Amino acid sequence: MDIIELLRREFNPRQVIVDETSLTAYATDESGEGPYYPRAAFLAQSPLEVEKLLRLASMEGFAVTPRGLGTGKSGGALPVCGGVVLAMDGMKRILEIDEDSSLAIVEPGIITQTLQQAVWEHRLFYPPDPASLDTCSLGGNVAENAGGPRAFRYGVTREYVLGMEAVTMGGKRFNLGRKSIKGVSGYDLTGLLTGSEGTLAVFTKLIMRLIPRHREPGIVLAFYADLASAARAVTALLSSSVHPMALELIDGYSLKNITGIEGFAPPAEAGGAILCEMEGLPDDDALLERLADILEGGDPLHIDVAMDPSACRRLWTARRNVSTRLKENHRYKISEDIAVPRAAIPAAVAQVQEIARRHGLHMGCYGHAGDGNLHVNFVTDDDGARKNFAMAVEELFVTTIRLGGTLSGEHGIGISKKRFMALEHDPNSLDMMHAIKKAWDPQNLLNPGKIL
Ligand code: LAC
Ligand code: ZN
Repeated sequence: MDIIELLRREFNPRQVIVDETSLTAYATDESGEGPYYPRAAFLAQSPLEVEKLLRLASMEGFAVTPRGLGTGKSGGALPVCGGVVLAMDGMKRILEIDEDSSLAIVEPGIITQTLQQAVWEHRLFYPPDPASLDTCSLGGNVAENAGGPRAFRYGVTREYVLGMEAVTMGGKRFNLGRKSIKGVSGYDLTGLLTGSEGTLAVFTKLIMRLIPRHREPGIVLAFYADLASAARAVTALLSSSVHPMALELIDGYSLKNITGIEGFAPPAEAGGAILCEMEGLPDDDALLERLADILEGGDPLHIDVAMDPSACRRLWTARRNVSTRLKENHRYKISEDIAVPRAAIPAAVAQVQEIARRHGLHMGCYGHAGDGNLHVNFVTDDDGARKNFAMAVEELFVTTIRLGGTLSGEHGIGISKKRFMALEHDPNSLDMMHAIKKAWDPQNLLNPGKIL
């Protein structure tokens, strides 16, 4: 039977989206890949519906691509094989906030910031903060093992997933993980599903670890003449006894692109900047002095501070908009997400600048330098230079792996980077990944065409 007919018969037809205009919303994401149109999108409202859809898909042999809010940057939520997009954004309830055990049980469609704000009221904190915090879904964050600036101090999403309810292709429901902080009982299936990019199972419930609320942070922003000086200051900070919540690097080109956002006004000659956020800074002059001393070692052009919540918020808004502004301001952009060992940050920065220069491309290079995680964005308005994207990206990955790094720090592999997997992983590891995929999804119908 035709998929659309089947879905309309088995579910409330109002939950089945089939017209092309509405399906446009499910054909792209923030990766710039596609569009890939599904035959239909199904708006799930309950775990039972997810089970039923995955049972039907297995029986009828159609592909299902789970999707949160479509902010992914590697194409993980794109239905590259057609079939049905399983839209999870309707399942967004907070089921429980347990203050005594410091955990929350939620549905996967909840917006990450909504969870953060809700638990803050209970004197608790959920740290992961991808740039798309106010528009991305927690389920997507878990699927991609998302990070963000504060991963430097608190770790990535993985550190906060205690357990989950998940459904595999065929409709089998699993309760995985635990509610305790510790637990080493059996294989860590929760850990396996975290970061599996929706290729193994669909989450219907998530048990998230929370931590106590932090004190008010302040931000120090140091501007340098060039990116190399800023990168060296990152290294100096990393080997100091100061432990920031976030340690971000922003190159001169990115600084120019976000100038004016919320009054952001870097010195015109700045070639790089460090954004350093620290808990308790507004009430600790000695700490501020120590931090300024370290940053001054790199001979900055200028140092700014933000010591009240609204000034910090304005700075973060500017920082979070680097990626969108680079995209808006150029005809062509390709954004990558490499991570290298901390010691290799200055070398990585120098080498990516050289790659961009050699290929006649502009580059916005910024990111979570404290984690060695750099977002390398090649941009151009020139049709000729655009042809160099492929070579530049390949060289970027070869360089990254040579420096002991990885293809992706936080955006995942999806479809954008899968052709480079063999650069990083040996054949035995790749075989094992294929075997794992086969064990969970033998028909290769759940988010096919991703990662491998
Ligand atoms: C950022 C996103 C792109 O850090 O990961 O801005
Ligand atoms: Zn990032």
